[in-house]
Amino acid sequence: MKRTKISDLFDPGMTGHEVDVKGWVRTRRGNKHVQFVALNDGSTIKNIQIVFDMNTFTDEQLKPVTTGSSIHVTGKLVESMGKGQTCEIQADTLEIYGTADPETYPLQKKGHTLEFLREKAHLRPRTNTFGAVLRVRSALAFAIHKFFQEKGFYYLNTPLITASDCEGAGAMFQVTTLPLNDLPKTEEGSVDYSRDFFGKPTALTVSGQLEGELGATALGAIYTFGPTFRAENSNTPRHLSEFWMIEPEMAFYDISDNMDLAEEFVKYCIRYALDNCRDDIDFLAQMYDPELVSRLEFVLHNDFVRLTYTEGVEILEKSGKKFEFPVSWGTDLQSEHERYLVEEHFKKPVILTDYPREIKAFYMKQNDDGRTVRAMDVLFPHIGEIIGGSEREENYDKLMKRIDELGIPMKDMWWYLDTRRFGTVPHSGFGLGFERLVLFVTGMTNIRDVIPFPRTPGNAEF
Ligand code: 4AD
Ligand code: MG
Repeated sequence: MKRTKISDLFDPGMTGHEVDVKGWVRTRRGNKHVQFVALNDGSTIKNIQIVFDMNTFTDEQLKPVTTGSSIHVTGKLVESMGKGQTCEIQADTLEIYGTADPETYPLQKKGHTLEFLREKAHLRPRTNTFGAVLRVRSALAFAIHKFFQEKGFYYLNTPLITASDCEGAGAMFQVTTLPLNDLPKTEEGSVDYSRDFFGKPTALTVSGQLEGELGATALGAIYTFGPTFRAENSNTPRHLSEFWMIEPEMAFYDISDNMDLAEEFVKYCIRYALDNCRDDIDFLAQMYDPELVSRLEFVLHNDFVRLTYTEGVEILEKSGKKFEFPVSWGTDLQSEHERYLVEEHFKKPVILTDYPREIKAFYMKQNDDGRTVRAMDVLFPHIGEIIGGSEREENYDKLMKRIDELGIPMKDMWWYLDTRRFGTVPHSGFGLGFERLVLFVTGMTNIRDVIPFPRTPGNAEF
């Protein structure tokens, strides 16, 4: 008989059929006449109940069937009399694949804290919570590709090892094959990178944008979707050292086109998750966040508020609210400021534009006022910044001047500047932090709980 996934058993046409199921035991209970096993195979949040008639099975046979063990059962799928499930399997045969010693299996009991499960990251996908989060994450990844592919964007793979620092923050993980305890030196005494693997210093990328711009100025519209790495020492519930980013980049888009796309894009992803992951989202809502579904619906049904950084700062200054970090024109906004605007002032997602040029990256289009750039940050309830982007400076001289002012080493940038030297065009793009989107859609509160194996300062165990 062919194996049926548990997710397919709940199809009404299945009742009355002989089925073959395989999975991991969540619980076993019962008495000497009948034993009930709740089985899960990862295909759905739902367990299937398996009923063992103890006239047919022996105690000895059922003994290894403990929480965490893996089994194979055949039997008849019937309507269930019991509460809490629509159907169940009356077992005919039982095969044990692998036992899980109750004395040592870490997920023996229900109701572990998320902190405890972070220490058990190798097994936590077997819990209801992480099963749900990981299924939603997978669906969102698919929705992202679907959205861009349907719009005629091309998926561009940008390098993970790079010699340039896109965001200019200097928070990069160096990649080297030089022996760290015996570094080759130049005559002047500095490290001789000509002897390194690539013949120069390299690092893991913080963003695929610069190469994305090369793609956009050839293919028209591209998107990247890959891991990015930041060596900042930020131990917050919203920062990872390794996170996934989606970066669309479009020729002939100005900042309003860019904002329209960003808004349509995140709404599409949220809609997709609500339409395709409802069981998982309902489970997470019930466990952690009763307002989850209404918050998702709320974002779908409201236009994002658009205003400038300058207007945003005025609102914050007039708010009379005591912030941990004081705010004034020119300061970078903290998550508390962003959340005040979104959650308390507008009560809607907000897109802030035209930030001071000093707090934004070199590539952003400079406004005529000489002090702001055409940046846009999309701010979400519970999350703060979910997207950062801008229109790009397409004028060679202006861009060059900014690069000089910031002292960015030109010799590493010549290829990027060629986009401005040959057939330059107005263009724009943005980056969506994938885990921040998953945080928002699942209602989880710590970014470490929405990526299978989180990388944070001091943590790379699993
Ligand atoms: O605002 P950021 O730094 O923008 C860029 O990297 C641009 N190159 C994007 C572009 O225009 N193509 O990062 C973009 C988004 C942020 O809004 C946030 O959602 C996420 O990436 N992000 C992080 N997510 C998790 N952990 C971190 N350490 C993150 N840093 C940024
Ligand atoms: Mg940003």
